[in-house]
Amino acid sequence: MSVNIESLKSEFERTYSCPPEVVSEAPGRVNLIGEHTDYNDGFVLPAAIDRSVAIAAAGRGDGIIRAKSLDYDQLDEFGVERVHRFRGSRGWRDYVRGVVWALQDEHLPLRGADIAIAGDIPPGAGLSSSAAVEMAVAGAMTRLSALDIDGKKLARLCQRAENLFVGVQCGIMDQLTSALGEQDHALLIDCRSLDAEPVPLPAGISIVIVDSKVPRNLADTPYNRRREECAEASSLLGVASLRDMDLATLEATRYALPNALYRRARHVITENARVSAMADALRTGDRSTIGRLMRDSHESLRADFEVSNPELDTLVALASETKGVIGTRMTGAGFGGCTVNLVECDSVSSFEQTVLAGYSRQTGLNAEVHLCRASNGLRVTDA
Ligand code: GLA
Repeated sequence: MSVNIESLKSEFERTYSCPPEVVSEAPGRVNLIGEHTDYNDGFVLPAAIDRSVAIAAAGRGDGIIRAKSLDYDQLDEFGVERVHRFRGSRGWRDYVRGVVWALQDEHLPLRGADIAIAGDIPPGAGLSSSAAVEMAVAGAMTRLSALDIDGKKLARLCQRAENLFVGVQCGIMDQLTSALGEQDHALLIDCRSLDAEPVPLPAGISIVIVDSKVPRNLADTPYNRRREECAEASSLLGVASLRDMDLATLEATRYALPNALYRRARHVITENARVSAMADALRTGDRSTIGRLMRDSHESLRADFEVSNPELDTLVALASETKGVIGTRMTGAGFGGCTVNLVECDSVSSFEQTVLAGYSRQTGLNAEVHLCRASNGLRVTDA
């Protein structure tokens, strides 16, 4: 699956009565391991996926931005220099306005633009549809304004838009993966230095995402609270961030921390260790280690970080008993959303049947399966 660019371009022409100049397409992402570590300066191992947000755009000389979401059939219009005045409208508009605001705030000279947006990333499922909108807008706006900004800097600007404009204190993982993804590879990202190393995915393994259909909007979850707890824990432990703490020191000082903060810190420290072990296991195709690391990650997110929920736990339990499953865990922020499953290619259809039937029996909900391929990051081209 991917966005139909030809029909996006025709919709653009129908809406604005002129052809687009550029097309900018940015993927969603799935995180294989390394959850809630990015905002602790830690390590993550996500992959960009073949579901994306695409934007067709043309420049305007009058500093006005008109944006149309084809999926929601809604329009927005604002002045490039007045974007801060409209803060907080919620929904897709915030991501467009937030990125324009972040670019403006860097004093980058921006043209106005007409924009049409379409996507095929399920919203609210934890597959980073919002980061993909942000990156696609950033890609289109910078190209139209002839600004040459690299993927890391663009990712930082989009994160800033999400932190300060949308109000979600997210880390850098989603935006950076959307910017730098590589086909058939995961990215081993050091969220302190922003070094991103592609790690090849073993042949014969499929990435199968299962959407629990418990949607959530990060702004309405305890996500920001978790981030505050991590900051409190690192300040009590006397380190700049939890990335700088090791397990032995944490255990030795365990009673200096409230129990919940101790468990949050333990998750982050053990999860960082699992990320580098997972990168090694993927490189060597060591299936049993991949499975163990994903199981431990899920358990740590459930018990120590407390971001799973009964539906995600049910999906993980069902998948771990299913033939051909190498590893399974919740993915993304949690509180709903999806699990990620690494499944032997020849077992994907039986996996789908078994897990969907078991899930609907146990929860009364109909999950949805997305078979994904690791994909390239942001692409901006002439239309
Ligand atoms: C969300 C955030 C990311 C990251 C994950 C949890 O996707 O946007 O920055 O913190 O949750 O790993």
